[in-house]
Amino acid sequence: MESEENKALQRTHYDDITLPIYERCLADESALVGAGLPQRYMKVHRLVEAYVDEQLGSDHSGQALVDFGCGWGEWACYFATLGFEVWAQDISEGNVKLADLRAQRNNLDVRIHTSDCTATEFPDVHFDMATGMALVHHLTLEEEQRFYDEVYRVLKPGGYALFKEPLKEMAWFRRVVELVPVRDKRNPRPSRLSPQWKAYAAQEHEPERPVSVAHFRQAFPPDKWDVVRVVPTGLFSRLDRLTRHTPTRTAIHDWDYRVFHRMTFLRKLFRNVIVIVRKRA
Ligand SMILES: C[S@@+](CC[C@H](N)C(=O)[O-])C[C@H]1O[C@@H](n2cnc3c(N)ncnc32)[C@H](O)[C@@H]1O
Repeated sequence: MESEENKALQRTHYDDITLPIYERCLADESALVGAGLPQRYMKVHRLVEAYVDEQLGSDHSGQALVDFGCGWGEWACYFATLGFEVWAQDISEGNVKLADLRAQRNNLDVRIHTSDCTATEFPDVHFDMATGMALVHHLTLEEEQRFYDEVYRVLKPGGYALFKEPLKEMAWFRRVVELVPVRDKRNPRPSRLSPQWKAYAAQEHEPERPVSVAHFRQAFPPDKWDVVRVVPTGLFSRLDRLTRHTPTRTAIHDWDYRVFHRMTFLRKLFRNVIVIVRKRA
């Protein structure tokens, strides 16, 4: 797919979903207050926080972070609560409005812009850390390379970039996972076995290009980047869709992230990968 076509698809897909939600949130003064800040039960948040601290220390005052493809602003606001000066961007105006409202309603200073992550107006060599959460798999291969060039431009020498991406699934595993319905208010999904499945499967879903662990091991030219970590994460946490009960979800996530590093032989089944690279000084 061509870049312009992909960008238009991404923008429209997210604007269609988000602009009506933004209008509803605007009308309801209690909406977004405290929401998603941070989703503590999700071990992946704590894991990301631990990796960020490992690279930059735990005092983030005076450190600047930019979140690319910020979506509804959960991660950007989360990083602001950790003490970073946070800048963020997204291609969808609806997402940016919602992220901005979330920041305002939680008294967080996050500077958010609508732009394309491959060509932003962020200042050169300003940031200690750049993040992209579930963004890369929405880019074409060629956009992905331009995105890394943009991240390189805005990072200080020795600065870090952290990406968290869903992994490409094996077809048979996908089919097994799809047997379990998702009872999510925002994004419900019927089981493959239910009569509603056919209609659901025929709908248009997120435009994406799933990626593999091997892809990230090769994506960063060694004259520009040191690859610090490529960590597949999350296996049993796929089962969190079975319950909305927060303590049970916490337990599943905790167990998962405690044992995952011993189960590398199952790496093809992992849910996400966390990639950390450092701009060569
Ligand atoms: C799956 S969402 C992830 C949102 C957020 N990072 C999170 O983890 O909740 C992917 C996001 O990438 C954004 N996106 C897609 N293409 C983009 C581009 N070229 N530049 C900036 N953002 C883009 C979409 O608008 C969407 O908000």
